[in-house]
Amino acid sequence: MKTPENTGDHSANTPPATGLAGWIDQRLPVISAFRAEYVDFRLPRNLNWLWNFGAILTVVLVLMLATGIFLAMNYTATDAGAFLSVEAIDRQLAGGWLLRAMHMTGANLFLAALYIHLFRGLYYGSYKAPREILWLTGLILLVMVMATAFAGYMLPWGQMSYWGADVITKAVGAVPVIGGTLEHIMTDSDHLGDVFLHRFFVLHFLMAFLVVAVVGLHVTAVHISGSNNPLGIEPKTKKDTLTFHPYYTTKDLVGLIIFALIFTALMFFWPNLLAEPANYAPADPMHTPADIEPEWYFLPFYGLLQSVPSKFGGLLAAAGSIAVLFFLPWLDRSPIRSARFRPLCRVGLLGLVVAFVLLAVAGKHHAEGVWMIVARLAGLYYFGYFLVLLPLAARMEKTRPLPSSIAAAEGDA
Ligand code: HEM
Repeated sequence: MKTPENTGDHSANTPPATGLAGWIDQRLPVISAFRAEYVDFRLPRNLNWLWNFGAILTVVLVLMLATGIFLAMNYTATDAGAFLSVEAIDRQLAGGWLLRAMHMTGANLFLAALYIHLFRGLYYGSYKAPREILWLTGLILLVMVMATAFAGYMLPWGQMSYWGADVITKAVGAVPVIGGTLEHIMTDSDHLGDVFLHRFFVLHFLMAFLVVAVVGLHVTAVHISGSNNPLGIEPKTKKDTLTFHPYYTTKDLVGLIIFALIFTALMFFWPNLLAEPANYAPADPMHTPADIEPEWYFLPFYGLLQSVPSKFGGLLAAAGSIAVLFFLPWLDRSPIRSARFRPLCRVGLLGLVVAFVLLAVAGKHHAEGVWMIVARLAGLYYFGYFLVLLPLAARMEKTRPLPSSIAAAEGDA
């Protein structure tokens, strides 16, 4: 909740705007609103590097939109033209290779940053009151970003795009009652071609802008509730907080520079590290690749999809793994937020990360042989953590004592 400690009070710190800025501000107070939210806004003083990822995600989102618009200007959304137009962007368009490399590296790092950002929320209990809506808007973003990434992966119309689309449309088709209709909406015919590509191109383009709108809501929610912090206790006095500028603008800048270094190293030195070679061959409905697998960021869900013997069951497990996160604020009733003070929850979360990685590895091995058992055990643990362990831990766990304030925890009482 907004308190004097976490709310920017610009009149107290920065003098009101004068001259032209003052004239505008009196009529449309955008300058004072910006100051209140991004200059004088107070945040807990103990935010660690994991709090850099919101800013990183925002900047990568802008980069994705900027590069995406130029790619779209040169892309042809047809069965016959899609692969060739992407090749032409890579080989003939001036700077096209760079645009595409930025967009592809951006997609991978965006998803990586998203998972880290989500895990930060899980670990420090940022989903608990009063941040439930903040958490829910984040999850809506997760679903939208996944849909956007999936639709985008279809567009080069390589072998993996085509066969990935084949797996997903068939899985959707397996939904009882409405499956056939959904599949028809996606493809409009019994084969994947012009209509499917065109629809997914529009979906990809549109979703990206809808994501921006939801990010607006998400960030507004952060500014209403204020940031959580590694201790998971609310700031009590001004001593517990720092102003956004210059403290967190500088910290975010350092995080962004380190991230940009990783980004450029990946993009220039290992541009195909995360790319699938099969997607550099044009889509061929007559030739199924030996291995159909999604991008790394979908592998845990692919593992879940394959761990259940029925197609619809697999779809339910994969969708359920995200749906369960929506109920988290009400599944975890512990009054303590941060896992730092919750020994059981801490071990449980470590298990959750291991289960998520194992599901991804099992997905990569098509959940065959021993990997089927691994996928099922990891899947059981994943759901068990949220549905059994967390609700029980809230009652049974012996938590560690909380510090009296953020400043006191830093020896500055
Ligand atoms: C397009 C994707 C996203 C963008 C651009 C974005 C952006 C941001 C920004 C700028 C912040 C404030 C700075 C920070 O705390 O790091 C933030 C905070 C937060 N985000 Fe996101 N976010 C995204 C997705 C998500 C997702 C998928 C979740 C998880 C469900 C999530 C949950 C949160 C939470 C809980 C906070 C407050 C954390 C705290 O104060 O402890 N966000 N986000």
